[in-house]
Amino acid sequence: MIVVDTLTKKFTTKERTSAFALRATTREVTAVDRVTFEARDGEVTGLLGPNGAGKTTTLRMLSTLLSPDSGKASIDGADLATQKAAIRRKLGVLGDAKGLYWRLSARENMMYFAKLQGMNETDAKQRADVLIRELGLEALGDRPTQGFSQGERMKVAIGRSLIHNPQTVLLDEPTNGLDIMSTRSMRDLIRGLKAQGKCVLFSSHIMQEVAALCDRIVIIAKGHVVFNGTPQEVLSTTGLASLEDGFVKLIGSDEGLFA
Ligand SMILES: Nc1ncnc2c1ncn2[C@@H]1O[C@H](COP(=O)(O)OP(=O)(O)OP(=O)(O)O)[C@@H](O)[C@H]1O
Ligand SMILES: [Mg+2]
Repeated sequence: MIVVDTLTKKFTTKERTSAFALRATTREVTAVDRVTFEARDGEVTGLLGPNGAGKTTTLRMLSTLLSPDSGKASIDGADLATQKAAIRRKLGVLGDAKGLYWRLSARENMMYFAKLQGMNETDAKQRADVLIRELGLEALGDRPTQGFSQGERMKVAIGRSLIHNPQTVLLDEPTNGLDIMSTRSMRDLIRGLKAQGKCVLFSSHIMQEVAALCDRIVIIAKGHVVFNGTPQEVLSTTGLASLEDGFVKLIGSDEGLFA
């Protein structure tokens, strides 16, 4: 179970007002602003929000990759500020950067991560075999990951994040770049994690995916939680018939890329 309590993160950026400006001015962006929610075991919780809303920043803080400026969070009772090593053992993380060791094969990438997690060789091998089969990577498992397609790299990264059979799984846009069949397997995999009683928190822009998978939805806009409830409650709160329309109403804007 993940408990997030008023988590806040600010970034300071330097900007030039014009191409000829001699000095850059400093600007502060509050990427995540007092974000509060819970994600339960045996449930899939969706983190939604427009580009730049603060989803990845929230997930990076929960992954211990980024320190919050204020607020707190815990995972299965382990405190984010003081028990980072315990948190890393409990978590499977698929971040927004899916960096792999390109000289290593898919299997070796998974095995390497298993070692970092303190698993023994036999368990790691067995687990890698299962994941390679589940992810449909049989034909690629022993090839160096250099040259893998975006979707293939994604699958290896997913395998790596699940190798130590974590109780809590954080996935940042897990179906990004996957083809239809792989997207389906990814959704099945998420359903499987839920059936095993795991806590799954994932970000997505795909409403159909969110509707199909999520028990609860947390919507963030400009760093703030603007909605926390079930997909059904998105409809009942907004009085709209589709999740997408409800989402647009809740984020308080129908401005898109070209607005
Ligand atoms: N390292 C950083 N330095 C400066 N600003 C940052 C940094 N990381 C994130 N931001 C800013 O914080 C805000 C939230 O970014 P974040 O990546 O969390 O958004 P997101 O919800 O994941 O968006 P997307 O849907 O596009 O992935 C954005 O305004 C972004 O520009
Ligand atoms: Mg993101």
